[in-house]
Amino acid sequence: MYDKEYDRLLRIKTVGTREWLHQSSHYNRYEATPYKALDDFFQDYELKSTDKLVDFGCGKGRLPFYIHNRFGVSVTGIEMSGQLYQEALENQANYMQKAKQSSAFIRFERCLAEEYEVEAKDNRFYFFNPFSIQIFMTVIDNILLSVEQQKRSVDIILYYPTSDYIEFLETSTPFELIKGVKVSSMYEKDPNELFLVFRFGE
Ligand SMILES: C[S@@+](CC[C@H](N)C(=O)[O-])C[C@H]1O[C@@H](n2cnc3c(N)ncnc32)[C@H](O)[C@@H]1O
Repeated sequence: MYDKEYDRLLRIKTVGTREWLHQSSHYNRYEATPYKALDDFFQDYELKSTDKLVDFGCGKGRLPFYIHNRFGVSVTGIEMSGQLYQEALENQANYMQKAKQSSAFIRFERCLAEEYEVEAKDNRFYFFNPFSIQIFMTVIDNILLSVEQQKRSVDIILYYPTSDYIEFLETSTPFELIKGVKVSSMYEKDPNELFLVFRFGE
């Protein structure tokens, strides 16, 4: 219920799930991060207006609109599905009609996350179980390459994290766990209902 109400507030449509007809074991289905989880996390985790966040596997764009509305932060949503990308664009048109004046942008790119060219100013990266560990490794490699070229501090934010993502970050990358935030209303029933933040760089 809360999700529908929040969607209405932002003038967007992001509820529901979307399965793939020819499901690949690498690419997961669409399902948005619950707004209650976002509320809990962003009570504890600050974004600055200079941050640039990338949502890898953004679906219909719930997270980009939420972040833009709440923090005035620029967001890039990456989505491989043409259908979901179109829905994100429709949401953007509706959202923009009433959006607060802001110099921050929201943009959507239809491409594979593993092919997205990380930009020098991208510094916050969000993942809600979008794809397999193999693809995650490639994306993290791309982020680290970008940091090597343009030194900066970057955060990886995981919602509902899987053990293979965590193990990879902890054992095979220079990222360090700096924060864990439990989703208050859901964690008791499901211990995967949490956010983890890993940081690397200056
Ligand atoms: C669980 S949903 C997360 C949606 C959104 N990030 C959120 O938290 O509200 C995962 C999304 O990742 C997309 N996806 C899966 N594999 C992808 C890939 N390789 N490149 C881009 N998007 C991908 C799916 O189409 C789906 O929309």
